[in-house]
Amino acid sequence: MKVKKAIFPVGGLGTRFLPATKSMPKEMLPIVDKPLIQYAVEEAANAGIEQFIFVTSRGKSAIENHFDHSFELENNLLSKGKRETLKTAQEMLKIPGSFAYVRQQEPAGLGHAVWCARHLIGDEPVAIILADDLIHGGNTIKEMIDNYNSGNMLAVMDVDKKEVSSYGVISPGKLIDNNVTEILGLVEKPSIEKAPSNMAVVGRYIIEPAVFEVLEKQNRGSSNEIQLTDAIASRIGKSNCVGYKFSQQRFDCGSKLGFIQANIRFSIERPEMKQNLKSWLKLEIFSDD
Ligand code: UTP
Repeated sequence: MKVKKAIFPVGGLGTRFLPATKSMPKEMLPIVDKPLIQYAVEEAANAGIEQFIFVTSRGKSAIENHFDHSFELENNLLSKGKRETLKTAQEMLKIPGSFAYVRQQEPAGLGHAVWCARHLIGDEPVAIILADDLIHGGNTIKEMIDNYNSGNMLAVMDVDKKEVSSYGVISPGKLIDNNVTEILGLVEKPSIEKAPSNMAVVGRYIIEPAVFEVLEKQNRGSSNEIQLTDAIASRIGKSNCVGYKFSQQRFDCGSKLGFIQANIRFSIERPEMKQNLKSWLKLEIFSDD
């Protein structure tokens, strides 16, 4: 089944990045020179997504502006003949009408954010991409769409047992193929003792329309928030629910460590930075090791 729409929930407060996120959206933090949200939109566009739905909140207008013309900047670059830079500034302009924005009026959780987009989704599956989960190399949401049949599909990865309480954790069933595993149960932020496995859900999902009906009930879960994983969990047994184990490296850019690691990883790949950065890290940072 073709998945044509993607939701980008960007309504969170980003408190782990204060004070940087006091007046700037977390999703606009750059990895090298590109904001996190642009990586997410590029991943979706390269996966064949045609409609991009952002769930925003107060203080997030920089995201809308980022995906629009900036006439003063563009005219300035044009008048100076900086055509390559101009191309960079214009590369995210899509067909008019393919970007839509809805507001989440309070940060009541990821499930609530997704539910806020309900009127823009018809009777069809939709992809969900969390921009702060940056996946390096390959295109995870494309792989998921290519492997999707029906029901709900969640990206999963193995995490350290001691980290399970930061994630939704699945109870894996039978292996359908090398990457796809049946999900028998799903629990949000379990204690280490209660975690059914160490297979954690990360920010890529394909959900069926029925999940919106569950979210409609506005049931609160972990952290007193409306959790997407709880809504998906309640569909287990009623429709297919599978985990897609991706092979690429994922960076949790919602955490400071993950954000810095991603910046180094992506910088090292830029030919103009690679050599200088490597020798600086070796000589200045790790010289005592
Ligand atoms: P996080 O759990 O990282 O929360 O959300 P957060 O508010 O962004 O950051 P911290 O924990 O306070 O530092 C994961 C994703 O879900 C979105 C966020 O914008 C982020 O992309 N989200 C979360 C919403 O859109 N609305 C919410 O109510 C909560």
